[in-house]
Amino acid sequence: MKIQDKMKQDWDRRAQIDPYYWVAATQEADLESYENSAQIDCEAFLKGFLKIKDLEWSEQVAKTLFQDQVLLDLGSGIGRMTAPLASYFKKAIGVDVSEQMIIKAKSLHETIENLSFYSNSGTDLSMVEPASVDVVCSYSVLAHLPIDVTESYFLEVGKILKPQGYFRYQFWVSSTANHPNDQDSLSIHVYDEDHFERLISQAGLKVISREEIDYFDPVLQIKPLWITAQKVAEPQGIAHVDREIKDSAISEEEIMLEYDLILYLAQKYQERGENAEAERVLSEAIQLEPNRPEAYLHWTSLRLALDDLTGTTTILEELTTKCPTCTEGWLYLAQVFQASEQPFKALESLEKCDKLLKKEQKALVQSKGQWSDEELTQQQERLLSIDTHRLSLLKMAQKDALKKRKR
Ligand SMILES: C[S@@+](CC[C@H](N)C(=O)[O-])C[C@H]1O[C@@H](n2cnc3c(N)ncnc32)[C@H](O)[C@@H]1O
Repeated sequence: MKIQDKMKQDWDRRAQIDPYYWVAATQEADLESYENSAQIDCEAFLKGFLKIKDLEWSEQVAKTLFQDQVLLDLGSGIGRMTAPLASYFKKAIGVDVSEQMIIKAKSLHETIENLSFYSNSGTDLSMVEPASVDVVCSYSVLAHLPIDVTESYFLEVGKILKPQGYFRYQFWVSSTANHPNDQDSLSIHVYDEDHFERLISQAGLKVISREEIDYFDPVLQIKPLWITAQKVAEPQGIAHVDREIKDSAISEEEIMLEYDLILYLAQKYQERGENAEAERVLSEAIQLEPNRPEAYLHWTSLRLALDDLTGTTTILEELTTKCPTCTEGWLYLAQVFQASEQPFKALESLEKCDKLLKKEQKALVQSKGQWSDEELTQQQERLLSIDTHRLSLLKMAQKDALKKRKR
């Protein structure tokens, strides 16, 4: 598979799960926070320009500044920023590798006349005439791309900008580089100062300003930046990415990150009482990682809350087939069998649960030194709670099995 196809496939999948969530990444994961985020990010984008020109911020001043200009939003998603920004520019163009994002963007904003959206290859901007764009915007895109793709886009931006045109984009820069796997499409790349400078100068750009964005990433331990660069020369080089990657090259970190983000989204849907959406999202998580137990367990709690024993049993049977070593899976399966008056099946599941529990207890003792005190206590408490639950179910199931036998 080509790297372009991988990016397209990844972002189409995310767009189909919930495009609003994947583009805005707000903590609340709802429409209101999506709209707020658009307003905040568009204002920050526009204010940066006014500051460079020593102008006081007002919508009217911004409109006057850009009214004859063309904007291109690189990695526009569903037009979260492109659509509100279009009202400031003569013409706005959104470009995105994901056809699903573009289909949604077009349907959401079809009434805005000076706005158009295009899906692209994922590495070039060949649908745009050279030297035809005044301003390029790119938010939360470039740092997620493989390095060669980002390098390619810088050259492309240098090509499509008019002389003295501006590129304002969000990026991560630090004294030390931090790059994830180079076929990932979600994890963040942090560029070191030298590489950052090289990207800019090869594209014929010059940095005019850089401002910290008010978000501290707890993992990377830095804040992202808004960078404004101006075209001062022609780009040195031609953009070209032609890289094959193996289907199996998707990194474990990337899948875990995506999986956890999907579970978070399901949780948010459930909190809002949108259970059907929560279940749809959980089934997507299962498709992505059929051998991880978390999504099944989450789904189990959701179905149990709806008193649906049959549905819960189906989910748990699938869980224990796909993840036969999930101790909780067997425990919950025993619980639903017991609740649906099938004590013999409950006893079978409890036996499996007991064997796994003993294995886990032994492994915990052997690996004690590898855990922090807090982790160790957490694991011990988890195993103890499973065991207590198991024993009380065992008593009930044995009693009921005996009664059934007597009959
Ligand atoms: C986190 S979203 C941000 C979307 C938008 N900029 C916003 O702020 O609402 C990242 C977007 O970049 C797009 N994208 C990812 N890789 C791309 C590529 N190689 N070329 C163009 N777009 C890409 C994705 O499809 C997705 O819509």
